[in-house]
Order: sequence, then structure tokens, then C-alpha cells
Amino acid sequence: MTNQFDDTRYLLKFILASAFCFFIGTVHGVLQVISPIRAWLDSIGSPYGGPGHMIDPLAHAHINVIGGVVIFIMGASYYLIPQIAGIRIYSKKLVNHTFWWTLLGIFGFYSTLMVFGIWEGQALLANPDNDDAVQAIHRYYGPVIATVSTGMGVGFWVYFFNIFVTIKQFKPSIQSKQP
Ligand code: HEM
Repeated sequence: MTNQFDDTRYLLKFILASAFCFFIGTVHGVLQVISPIRAWLDSIGSPYGGPGHMIDPLAHAHINVIGGVVIFIMGASYYLIPQIAGIRIYSKKLVNHTFWWTLLGIFGFYSTLMVFGIWEGQALLANPDNDDAVQAIHRYYGPVIATVSTGMGVGFWVYFFNIFVTIKQFKPSIQSKQP
């Protein structure tokens, strides 16, 4: 078997992407408490509903929790399983699919929530007595958010499959070690 440390450098991108998402998430987090921005978010329904809810808390929570935390955990588990169990990850190709589907998915999810949150928010403030303007925009939101959410979901499901198949390989070795 080759040296696992040599094989693992391709996992570095998980850590870099996680740090980048935390950067976006923390800048977003600070901006959303600065009073003029906070007042604008409140005026469009944040955090309870309406366009504001898309920006705060949905976009903010997801870029931090999925972009920052989950992507880090994915990379860490792909590194740690071979280290702990001495077995190879089932598919390196699926590791890269995990990374790109989850990362492009969370960027799509975040930017969709931000674009529609701002766009619908502006329409709401420009037409406070007429919801048609907001609805005229919102009808595009459904298909777009469904598409990017599915992309993000594919990243999670590829990860689950790759981990479960890897662990399945591991079980026989546990039994052979028992007296
Ligand atoms: C400087 C950094 C951050 C600031 C200033 C900040 C600020 C905030 C604020 C003001 C809220 C409340 C929003 C509301 O009640 O409408 C919030 C909610 C939240 N934040 Fe942060 N945040 C920061 C970093 C993070 C990080 C790193 C994570 C995750 C790893 C995170 C995850 C969340 C979650 C899960 C919520 C709850 C969303 C919900 O209500 O459903 N935040 N943050």
C-alpha cells in the first residue's frame, strides 16, 4: 500500500473551501447586525419570514454550517478513515464529486437566497400595498432553489454512499481479529 500521507494532499481543498465559506459567513454575520442593514432586513421580514428570512437566517446559517462545518467534516472523515482503519476510501473519484457538488451546491444555494432576498425585498419596499410585484419575482425562486438544493443534496448522498461502501469493506477485518 502507498504512503497515505502522499495520497491525502488532494483533500486540502476541503479545508480551503471550508475556510472560505466561514469567511463569507462571518462577514455576512457581522453585516447583518450593523444597524442600517439590520433595519433594512427587519423591514423586509427577517428573521421570521418574507424576503428577509432568506438572507437572515437561512443564507447566513447555511453558508456557515454547510459550507464551513459540513465540508470540513467531509474532508476530515475522508482523511481519518484510512488513518484509523488502515483501509482505502472506496472511490477517490467520488471524493471529488462530493467536494464539487456540495461546494457548487452551497454557493448556488447561498447566492439564490441572497439574490432573491434582496430582489424581492426591494420590490416589497417599493410596493408595500401590492404583493403582485414580489410574487412576479418569487415564481422563479422555486425552480432555482430546487435545482441548487438538489445539487447540494447530490454532494451529501455521494458522500454517504462513498463512506458506507468504504466502511462495508472494513467490517470483515473486525470479525477476523476477534478470538
Ligand atoms: C462573526 C461571526 C458571526 C456573527 C456576527 C453572527 C451573527 C448572527 C446573528 C445576529 C444571528 C441571529 C439572526 C437572527 O436572529 O435573525 C445568527 C444566527 C445564526 N448563526 Fe451566526 N454569526 C456569526 C458566525 C456564525 C458561524 C461561524 C456559524 C456556524 C458555524 C453561525 C451559525 C448561525 C446559525 C445556525 C444561526 C441561527 C439561524 C436561525 O435562526 O435559524 N454563525 N448569527
